[in-house]
Amino acid sequence: MKAFIVGIGGVTNGGKTTLANKLLKILPDCSLISQDNYFKPEAEVATDERGFKRFDVLEALEMETMMSDVLSWITQHKEAEPLKALQENCEKSVHFLIIEGFLLYNYKPLDDMFDRRYFLTVPYEECKKRRSTRVYDPPDPPGYFDGHVWPMYIKHKEEMDKLQREIVFLDGTKTKEEILYYVNSEIKRVALHGTS
Ligand SMILES: Nc1ncnc2c1ncn2[C@@H]1O[C@H](COP(=O)(O)OP(=O)(O)OP(=O)(O)O)[C@@H](O)[C@H]1O
Ligand SMILES: [Mg+2]
Repeated sequence: MKAFIVGIGGVTNGGKTTLANKLLKILPDCSLISQDNYFKPEAEVATDERGFKRFDVLEALEMETMMSDVLSWITQHKEAEPLKALQENCEKSVHFLIIEGFLLYNYKPLDDMFDRRYFLTVPYEECKKRRSTRVYDPPDPPGYFDGHVWPMYIKHKEEMDKLQREIVFLDGTKTKEEILYYVNSEIKRVALHGTS
């Protein structure tokens, strides 16, 4: 079986978890790893000079644990490809791993794992509006979006853009169905036939 690792990165409230969960249901053989599950306990997360918890940085995440989970998935799914699956060259012969999260491509060991990288964007106003409807644990304190979340997003996006890896940008203001249709078709095509 062939292992194919897909990154669904992007801005907060860009629709990463929504898209990843839908792909998990549609793709015939698919696992999901969500970066949201690797936050350190609040007490271990640093606080900035204005009193904001620095959640939106790599240091707030257990990245080594996340990497070891990715590597163990790879080990489990790397077994020799059965001849029949090879001959059929069908999507059933591919194991997909979706990794979704807001800081996937700024951590080199993880960035190196991806066969295909997607990145959901939404403009500032839409992002702020969507975020204001959500209740996080811990909840965003007043001013958190403008004081921490958005500036960290811009900083990480600039760092990511400098790396010049191949990243497919997705307009997160399109409908959930449009985004799903596009990514689902593209993943299957690229997994079976490559990008050429
Ligand atoms: N294409 C879309 N159009 C409109 N709203 C969307 C779209 N995709 C997701 N949403 C909505 O935006 C909100 C955030 O979605 P989701 O949780 O998938 O985003 P996320 O990128 O995983 O955010 P987080 O930063 O919390 O991890 C939800 O209310 C969801 O229903
Ligand atoms: Mg999410």
